[in-house]
Amino acid sequence: MNERLKTVTKALQDTEFIDIISELINNDKVMKMKNYRQHYDISTFEHCLNVSYISYKICKLLKWDYKSMARAAMLHDLFLYDWRESKKKLNLEGYHAFVHPKIALKNAEETFELNKKEKDIILKHMWPVTFSLPKYKESYLITFVDKYSAIQESIGYYQKQMEAKRLYRYAYIFLCLIFLGKII
Ligand SMILES: [Fe+2]
Ligand SMILES: [Fe+2]
Repeated sequence: MNERLKTVTKALQDTEFIDIISELINNDKVMKMKNYRQHYDISTFEHCLNVSYISYKICKLLKWDYKSMARAAMLHDLFLYDWRESKKKLNLEGYHAFVHPKIALKNAEETFELNKKEKDIILKHMWPVTFSLPKYKESYLITFVDKYSAIQESIGYYQKQMEAKRLYRYAYIFLCLIFLGKII
């Protein structure tokens, strides 16, 4: 099992973590993230769950505000569109990388009661791509975890591709052996 799947599996089995984000993950708007691809074959929902769980574990270890961290990270990419489409088609005011934190925050605020820290974590998660400095240590943490998760998710995708290729290779050798067996 690759690292990405391990994280998701652990997250779903961690009852304390799931209790914290249950209001969010059972909401229709948040569930819509399952319909949008984030990195390679991973949905925005799964990516947010990854970032949320890793950030939550680090915050618990450091005795930081793990509840706000887990909640905000679960909502940090709640932009609800396919970012591969052109900004013109999506009617965005700027490039996705710069504007999606504001869109995610707007969508999250329309649906949930958020504290100041949660808002800052969502809004600043792309720093330093977006210029405004994070106000809280948890907001800095998400900037690292988000990038780490993107790398982990990409590696997970390529691992799967390699495994699939290996399977094809074995199947090809197997079929060749059967064919040779028949003609020899
Ligand atoms: Fe993002
Ligand atoms: Fe993200």
